[in-house]
Amino acid sequence: MARRLGLPAQIAIAIVAAVSAAVIAFFVFDREPTGRQQGKALVGGPFELVDQSGRTVTQNDLAGSYALIYFGYTFCPDVCPTSLQTMSAAIDLLGPAGDEVQPVFVTVDPARDTVEQMAAYAAHFHPRLLALTGSEAQVADAARAYRVYYQRVDDSAATEYLMDHTSLYYLMGLDGEYVAHFSHDATAEEMAARIRELTGDE
Ligand code: NI
Repeated sequence: MARRLGLPAQIAIAIVAAVSAAVIAFFVFDREPTGRQQGKALVGGPFELVDQSGRTVTQNDLAGSYALIYFGYTFCPDVCPTSLQTMSAAIDLLGPAGDEVQPVFVTVDPARDTVEQMAAYAAHFHPRLLALTGSEAQVADAARAYRVYYQRVDDSAATEYLMDHTSLYYLMGLDGEYVAHFSHDATAEEMAARIRELTGDE
């Protein structure tokens, strides 16, 4: 006579089934062309976040201008501040053409990066920097759209935790489509030259 599975086993089976379904769904939907050209990078997409003045910002707010987007966090000891300085300098090097490029900083640490924290931090960088935070879920969705990895790193020796995160700049086009990305060690000069080339401002 078949013995009924205990509750823990039933829960385990339900979890395995749910995870399998999620993985299958990810691969199936990820491969849908969704109106994009085949072979085009699948970076970018819908998001809903909150800027440093508390205003809701979605991908629609970036339409009509280029966007240079960087994901990081304000407590980052070195890479993020350097990256934001580089990004700001690149936009300034573009001169008037730089006005067509919206610099965007998205936090991967919404627990500490409140609207107030983002406002204070953004003030150290480009005057037009859009600093975006949101709920854990909103940030996770935005990071997923941009294929950004992040993970909290707990070090018992440290009083504050660190965040591991993808450190790339994304240049998005007028239509919100991915144009190019830059590694975090790109210089402002290199970035400005490439943006000038890609945005047709020779
Ligand atoms: Ni960082």
